[in-house]
Order: sequence, then structure tokens, then C-alpha cells
Amino acid sequence: MDGSGNAAFVAFERVQKSYDGETLVVKDLNLSMPKGEFLTMLGPSGSGKTTCLMMLAGFETATHGEIKLDGQSINNIPPHKRGIGMVFQNYALFPHMTVAENLSFPLEVRKISKSDREAKVKRALDMVQMGEFGNRRPAQLSGGQQQRIALARALVFEPELVLMDEPLGALDKQLREHMQFEITRLAHNLGITTVYVTHDQTEALTMSDRVAVFDDGRIQQLAPPDKLYEEPDNSFVAQFIGENNTLLGKVEEISGETCKVRLDSGELIVAKPVNVSEVGERTRVSIRPERVEMNMERLQDGAFTLKAEVLEFIYMGDIYRTRLRVAGHEDFVVKTRNAPDQPRLKPGERIEIGWLPEDCRALDS
Ligand SMILES: Nc1ncnc2c1ncn2[C@@H]1O[C@H](COP(=O)(O)OP(=O)(O)OP(=O)(O)O)[C@@H](O)[C@H]1O
Ligand SMILES: [Mg+2]
Repeated sequence: MDGSGNAAFVAFERVQKSYDGETLVVKDLNLSMPKGEFLTMLGPSGSGKTTCLMMLAGFETATHGEIKLDGQSINNIPPHKRGIGMVFQNYALFPHMTVAENLSFPLEVRKISKSDREAKVKRALDMVQMGEFGNRRPAQLSGGQQQRIALARALVFEPELVLMDEPLGALDKQLREHMQFEITRLAHNLGITTVYVTHDQTEALTMSDRVAVFDDGRIQQLAPPDKLYEEPDNSFVAQFIGENNTLLGKVEEISGETCKVRLDSGELIVAKPVNVSEVGERTRVSIRPERVEMNMERLQDGAFTLKAEVLEFIYMGDIYRTRLRVAGHEDFVVKTRNAPDQPRLKPGERIEIGWLPEDCRALDS
């Protein structure tokens, strides 16, 4: 049961995994997913994402802990009864079968009639824009085409749970965006529960109900995309998701919702204490580039200001990207919308910038 009293459809309970009996590549993982959720695992290479999918699919066993599917430990459910569709990181199509046979296979196993099979195979191939390729063998397809077939095969039998490991990695931008849309649409329409793995954070943010950010075998934060981006729990998540400005300093005072941080360069700034708890503690203060104001007339009440020097101004059409020297850091970036009242600055100009204390998060150092 999760906190809301609903039985979780997928649950990892204190799961650990070691391949060699010494190092843990998954460390005390807890995760609970309701039915129909689209959850993405995002994180650096080697952080344990594929290992988690493999354990959920039953191809690897957990060293400790338990994984449950619909309330039942998966150890007790034989693979063909798990109803899991999978797209592996390497596509793993059956080489001796044609594309159509690859797709038909999971339907035959489930004893679907021939005419239904044909209709479902056609629909799945059309979904991935591969309708013309039914008679080819995998070796006669490009990498991206094989990837699309693998995706179609995982979805063709309308499984309750789909696991996808970088299913769009080999596709060009346009096709990739089309498939992102198709996958989420299908998953939501059919009520499929999805665990999706990607390196692409835009993909993670745009497709998912929740994102689990992995690092070093642990979930660093599990949250809906907007919360993850706007309220990172720690420095790793703040740096990993989106662009981020970091200022280093020491906590000088904490009172409730605000703290004062003495930056290493000497300035005192006000921030929101997120995971600092003591005066004297070192902290990384994190602020998003679009939360910084450079037009002092637009500054809101309660904002505080700092001096800055313009190092670079880049016109990007819809936005301006200005790089500043702030408190001794030369990589401080501000993004502003292209608007008549936003300045187009020149290198060397000395300006004031400002932001609201609540947009400025004091995190672990
Ligand atoms: N079969 C295996 N035997 C031994 N070690 C393994 C095995 N599979 C994975 N590992 C190790 O476990 C760790 C986690 O690997 P995993 O494949 O889960 O990472 P990942 O997050 O999927 O990475 P990527 O983004 O590169 O796919 C890595 O250090 C990897 O070297
Ligand atoms: Mg992987």
C-alpha cells in the first residue's frame, strides 16, 4: 500500500543489487507506482537504470529486497504471465523472423486469432511509420528502423506494463519527437503503466508523470517534472536537470523559510534553506537562469540585488542569453525573453541583477 491507501501496481521495496557480491549498483531502492503512471528513470551512465528494469522484468534477481507487481512478488509470477512489454537498450529483435513475424509472435503466444493478429500488427507498424516493412528481416533495416520495430513489438499486445530502455536513442529529432508524442498518447489511452529510461532530460520532462533521477544506485529525487525542475532537493538534481547557476558560500543565519549566505566572494545573499540546517555549513546556492531579472523596473518587491558585469550577450531569437561575472563566478547565465523592455547588453557593461529569495535555493555543498 502506498501513502494514499491505494495498492501500488509496481513496487520496489528496499531493493539492492550487486553483480559481484561486493559493490552495490542499486542501493536501497524504494519506488511505488500507481497503475497507469508514466515514470521515467533519468540519470548518468552506470547509475543503475537498466539494472532496475531488468529486475522488474525478471531477467535479473534482486540481491536484497522485494519487487512487486500488482501486489505479488514477481518471483512468484512466471515470465509469460507478467504481461510486460519490453524495449531493450539493444533492440533484440528475432533475427530469423520478418518484421511482421516479430510483431505477431507475442500475439501468437497469447493465442490471439489470426485476423486479430493481422489487424494489430498493421496498426502497430503504422504507429511507428513502418507499414511498408513487414516482410523485411531485422538485418535489412537501419538502426533507427529496428528500434521502431522493437517499440511496436513491445506495444502490439497492449501490455499492462511496458518497460522501455532508451527506445528512441537511434532516431533523428523529428521522428523522435513524433514517437515521444505517440508513446505517451498510446500509454495514456490504453492505461498502460510505463517505466521509461532515457538520457534525454527534455524527453523525461515532457513525457512523464513523474521522473526518478538516479545517481550512484540511488534515487536522488522522485517528483513530477515541474517540481523536479523548480524545486530540486539537492545539488546533484539542480545541476543535472536543466541549466543552473551556482554560487558557493557559507550559511551565516537561518530563520524559518530564509537563510543568509556569505558568498566566498564576500557578498551576503538571502536564500531558501533547502538542505542546509546549521550556521557555518558550506552550501551551493542554486538559481535558474530565467529567474534572474536584469531590468530593475521589473523587479518584484522583496527581491535583492547584486552587481554584475556583462561578459557575453547572445541573441537567440526567442530569448537572449547573457553571460555575466557575478560574485567572482564567470559562468553566471541569465535567460530573458525577447521583449521590448529587456536590455540587449554589451560585454563590459556593469549592471545590477536581482531575484527573489525563494527562487534561490541553498543546497548541499
Ligand atoms: N551483467 C553485469 N555484470 C556486472 N556488472 C554489471 C552488469 N550489468 C551492469 N553492470 C554494472 O552495474 C552498474 C549499473 O549498470 P546499468 O546498466 O544499470 O546502468 P545504466 O544506468 O543503465 O547506464 P546507461 O545509461 O549507460 O545505460 C554499472 O556500473 C555496470 O557496469
Ligand atoms: Mg542502461
